[in-house]
Amino acid sequence: MTRLALVITALTSLSRGVLGALQTCGQAQYDPAQYVCWSNQFLCPVTAGEGLSYCNGACYSKFMYTCANNILTLLEPVDTPFTLTVSNPTLSIHDKPITAGGLRLSLNGQTSSYCPSVVGDACPPGNTTSIVAGYGGASMNTLVPGGQRIYLDPSWNVAYTQAHSAYIPSGSLTTGFAAYKDGGFVNLNGNGWGWVACPPRASGPAGPAWNLIARNETNAESLNYCTPINLKVNPFPSRAAAWQYT
Ligand SMILES: *[C@@H]1O[C@H](CO)[C@@H](O)[C@H](O)[C@H]1NC(C)=O
Ligand SMILES: *[C@@H]1O[C@H](CO)[C@@H](O)[C@H](O)[C@H]1NC(C)=O
Repeated sequence: MTRLALVITALTSLSRGVLGALQTCGQAQYDPAQYVCWSNQFLCPVTAGEGLSYCNGACYSKFMYTCANNILTLLEPVDTPFTLTVSNPTLSIHDKPITAGGLRLSLNGQTSSYCPSVVGDACPPGNTTSIVAGYGGASMNTLVPGGQRIYLDPSWNVAYTQAHSAYIPSGSLTTGFAAYKDGGFVNLNGNGWGWVACPPRASGPAGPAWNLIARNETNAESLNYCTPINLKVNPFPSRAAAWQYT
């Protein structure tokens, strides 16, 4: 790009902030906050802050698909442990970790874990929240016998079972999750409405952690104070990250 083009781009983004200026894509005009233009002819929407990519007639999310030889292809599932980070560049918590605490997964919180003293040196550090996924379900990446299963609770918050307990409230969902290599952790329940990040509410528990909630057709309206996000999968070494999360 030439120096002049850079200046023009800078001016365009400046005026866009002030005026919401439209740009052109072939014959069409579009708002760059809402669409991306591919090859000066195809418009794809921006969802969860991600300008969708284009593959031979289809717009797709890089958190789930790739375009191989012009064919839309699902990314490979991840069968090793991973951590998750928030992805939506419009949010202050972009790139912040998903954290386990209070038997819930939150955004930008503190990882909360425990290891009995008898385990001694074999205790993993327990300071990172890591997950494993497979067979449609997901669990916390822990050593505790019985494991800690991840589920959507009846309010579609993301929760995990307490160590040494298989208790899951009735009306919860334990399947419908998938994690993709170099992609995202997705919720396939409820027709792909995706995840939202809900800011801490004045009336709610204090602290910097945001709530992670799975959206669907029914709850979308009540979650309009929240922002759609993707959950980005990041590789984690093939070992347990904690004895148990609390
Ligand atoms: C977690 O603890 C280990 C061992 O004490 C340390 O090396 C690592 O940097 C810590 N990681 C984070 C994310 O704090
Ligand atoms: C959507 O989530 C709400 C909880 O927020 C739940 O009560 C409802 O059953 C879910 N709707 C669908 C269609 O699954």
